[in-house]
Amino acid sequence: MASVREKLLHVAQPGAVGVPRSKVTVVGVGQVGMACAFSILQSGVADDVTLIDVMVDKLQGEVMDLQHGSLFLKTAKIRAAKDYSETADSKLCIITAGVRQREGESRLALVQRNVEVFKQIVPPLAQHSPNAILLVVSNPVDILTYVAWKLSGFPQERVLGSGTNLDSARFRFLMGERLGIHPSSVHGYIIGEHGDSSVPVWSGANVAGVSLLSLNPELETKQDAEGWSKVHQDVVNSAYDVIRLKGYTSWAIGLSVGGLTQSILKNLRSVHPVSTLVKGMHGIGEEVFLSLPCVLGWSGVCGVLQQPLKQQEAQKLMQSSQTLWGIQKELKL
Ligand SMILES: NC(=O)c1ccc[n+]([C@@H]2O[C@H](COP(=O)([O-])OP(=O)(O)OC[C@H]3O[C@@H](n4cnc5c(N)ncnc54)[C@H](O)[C@@H]3O)[C@@H](O)[C@H]2O)c1
Repeated sequence: MASVREKLLHVAQPGAVGVPRSKVTVVGVGQVGMACAFSILQSGVADDVTLIDVMVDKLQGEVMDLQHGSLFLKTAKIRAAKDYSETADSKLCIITAGVRQREGESRLALVQRNVEVFKQIVPPLAQHSPNAILLVVSNPVDILTYVAWKLSGFPQERVLGSGTNLDSARFRFLMGERLGIHPSSVHGYIIGEHGDSSVPVWSGANVAGVSLLSLNPELETKQDAEGWSKVHQDVVNSAYDVIRLKGYTSWAIGLSVGGLTQSILKNLRSVHPVSTLVKGMHGIGEEVFLSLPCVLGWSGVCGVLQQPLKQQEAQKLMQSSQTLWGIQKELKL
């Protein structure tokens, strides 16, 4: 007896199963992972979004909840992976799993706890999707991007961290608030280490090519009557403030990862400050990952902008690289 499906549908291509072309796996369905997944689903850029987590019930519940919204989305497949074999053929794997930064806890203090988590995640991801791009979001993001690079054995251009993409978004928002201009029209980059030691490149801050520093040469100094340097201080404090107020950060990082995903899957070759292997750049000699403006496309990091930096800015990058290397060389990988 033919089923309703068989009666309804004449199968034109028996045996044909669609192979995903832009599959995204998100590891970790916590606050950050779900915000990333939701942002990616809303953009419609992926044809398959697969989620994986060790908390099986939470994973199942989150995926069911998203699947029930399929009518309003343009992603063919949303699924919960029971094991890493179901993440196979991912184009992009986003790692948000890990233990969360506690109130007042520095990102660096999280490190070894999250290295152990990464040992369970990165090797099977790499095994089942050997051509994927790995995008690390878990903190401390720069060190964990290095860890993911080492554990995966992938080429450097296919391993990146979300880095200061979020810090730069906060920077542009806060400058925009002062100027009464939307952040998309206020340009400026924060580079280096995500978080406390990040470096604002004030020389590049501009609206429509009009340099803010040319309008106020004291912009980056403590002498500045308008206190613009506080903008960077506020960026640094942002995560701590949001965590103090709501317990975690999620929406902005989710949206920022959604933007990175679009640049990669649509091969946009747009520029984002993301964490990349910086050995050989700005005089850095160690194998560390720090954020510099990178061109992102289908193959991952297609290029790194050779941004002119002041001596002081380059020195800060150097200090961060030494701090990170000091920690990395102690890690048990
Ligand atoms: N890079 C950034 O800009 C940025 C911004 C915000 C948060 N973060 C970081 O993102 C990470 C996640 O934050 P959150 O608020 O979502 O935390 P969370 O505690 O809500 O979620 C973490 C998830 O990871 C899962 N997990 C733990 N071990 C796992 C494993 N071995 N395999 C699979 N899943 C595992 C947990 O079950 C949990 O669901 C943290 O490290 C946080 O510091 C980074």
